[in-house]
Amino acid sequence: MTAESMKQTAATEFTNPNLSVLYSADDIRTRIAELGAQITADYRGGDLVLVGVLKGSCVFMADLMRTIDLPMTIDFMSVSSYKDGTVSTGDVEILKDLSNPIRDKDVLVVEDIVDTGLTLTRLLDILGSRGARSIRLASFLDKPEPRINKELNVDYTGFVIPNEFVVGYGLDAAGRYRNLPFIGIVKNPAEA
Ligand code: IMP
Ligand code: MG
Repeated sequence: MTAESMKQTAATEFTNPNLSVLYSADDIRTRIAELGAQITADYRGGDLVLVGVLKGSCVFMADLMRTIDLPMTIDFMSVSSYKDGTVSTGDVEILKDLSNPIRDKDVLVVEDIVDTGLTLTRLLDILGSRGARSIRLASFLDKPEPRINKELNVDYTGFVIPNEFVVGYGLDAAGRYRNLPFIGIVKNPAEA
């Protein structure tokens, strides 16, 4: 690689000037350590399974589980939520179900962000019929303003954010930006 092309590589995705950093990798690490300590204390003596909702939760899941100092297992689900462009319809289709039963387990659903809350409401309904001992929700981000289901309780929240479209740390815009190590706001979506 030439010096010139190295420079170009260095100024690409992670330093994209169209992104402004809302939470840095350091902010995120600090907050997740706190969440992990709280979850560790709350689930001591339980039978914990973390259920990650693909794909957005994958980065949060990987970091969070390494801060939970308990015997535990993980599983994943994949649901389609956005049927109508970027507006959540609340219509949830299971694309990939859990690999194992959750009967008598302490389920902690791990999400990237709760926005309208419709996806999670449906998902918790579905999981609620499977005989788990407890079901709670951990969401890395909580964007309360657009919430439609006001009853939805987020038990563990990383950060409460304003009503902005954010990317990075697992969250995408049309599939892009999941790999950013920070949470950013796309300044000009037309230029993304
Ligand atoms: P809800 O049903 O409106 O709560 O939708 C939640 C899902 O919408 C999340 O799991 C994300 O996949 C997506 N989502 C909502 N807000 C954002 C955002 O600001 N950035 C990226 N994805 C988002
Ligand atoms: Mg999601």
